[in-house]
Amino acid sequence: MTPCRKPGPNEVLIKVVAAGLNPKDWKWTKSRGQDCAFNAEDDITGIIESVGSKVFEYKPGDRVVAFHRMGEPSGAYAPYAIAPFSTTFHLPPNISFEAGAGLPLSSMTAAIALYQALQIPLPNTPGKKDLPLLIYGGATAVGAFALQLVTLSNVGPTITVAGSGIDFVKSLNAADHIIDYRKGNVAQNIITALGDKKLHHALDAVSGKKSHEPIVEALLNSGGGEINMLDPPEEDYKWPNGVKFTRTFVASAYAQKHAHISQEQADADGEFAYFFYRYMTYLLAEGKFKPHPHEVLPGGLDGIAGGIQRLFDGKVSPTKLVVRIADTPGL
Ligand SMILES: NC(=O)c1ccc[n+]([C@@H]2O[C@H](COP(=O)([O-])OP(=O)(O)OC[C@H]3O[C@@H](n4cnc5c(N)ncnc54)[C@H](OP(=O)(O)O)[C@@H]3O)[C@@H](O)[C@H]2O)c1
Repeated sequence: MTPCRKPGPNEVLIKVVAAGLNPKDWKWTKSRGQDCAFNAEDDITGIIESVGSKVFEYKPGDRVVAFHRMGEPSGAYAPYAIAPFSTTFHLPPNISFEAGAGLPLSSMTAAIALYQALQIPLPNTPGKKDLPLLIYGGATAVGAFALQLVTLSNVGPTITVAGSGIDFVKSLNAADHIIDYRKGNVAQNIITALGDKKLHHALDAVSGKKSHEPIVEALLNSGGGEINMLDPPEEDYKWPNGVKFTRTFVASAYAQKHAHISQEQADADGEFAYFFYRYMTYLLAEGKFKPHPHEVLPGGLDGIAGGIQRLFDGKVSPTKLVVRIADTPGL
């Protein structure tokens, strides 16, 4: 199999071993249709095949994880892929290619949301900080990564909300209060869990049509605060006074601005992502940060369509679906 194209000066060419699926894969295709490049998917683990002229950190043969540039061709669903070197990081030997393939997009989304948008103290900032925090959707990949990170940041109390993934969320041992949304009264249960604490920071890691509603209610009950969402609510939604809406869009990991952040902020996110991905190699190697549980789909590349359908149907919890390129029949 011949590699797709030569990497540009700041890019790496990767022989893909495993690729991870994301809800974005159907969302972008649905919203952008023909405007979406072919094979523009993003989560890659594999072996460095060659590097661009300005790349100094990687050499052929290195095991890596990479976040491909969203919306561009030469993505994860192929035997070879191209990624910016800034969003590529070493895969430590204790993490399999399959487990690592669920990391790049969701973990960086969590990191940018917490540290760049909500301005939570970074991991290892000395001293436990009293900073009540709501992570809505603790069983989502983004939410579970956020829970792990806030534990490393040593802030709290942390409240999270989950449903069928609740046992997994408990196993993370990262939240002080876990609320089961299937029992209803989510806003009231968050308020009760807070007790006399005030909630001013929330990450909505579900970002569905209605998920912001209980979050807004809980923030207002504390006098207001910031909600960071991954997908914004309907355009005509009016944020009440006292609630600040910010949005994380993980493409800022390679300094791409979007409707909700300036180029200056995107540049800052790009530098943040550069160091935080490398820090993640250390955290993974030390066992301080763990990949999301994963399921390998049968049939390699042939398994992707069925996997994306399951994501579309909302039938995946709490799991990253991944494919192994070598499992593809006839490849
Ligand atoms: N803007 C960006 O850059 C960006 C980046 C990454 C992801 N996203 C978006 O962020 C969302 C999460 O992505 P992901 O990859 O982390 O998703 P995921 O892992 O596929 O999320 C699946 C989980 O959603 C949970 N869930 C569904 N409805 C819920 C609800 N009402 N309350 C609480 N939990 C609920 C389910 O948990 P239970 O089984 O416990 O219900 C399930 O485990 C998606 O909408 C995705 O498109 C955006």
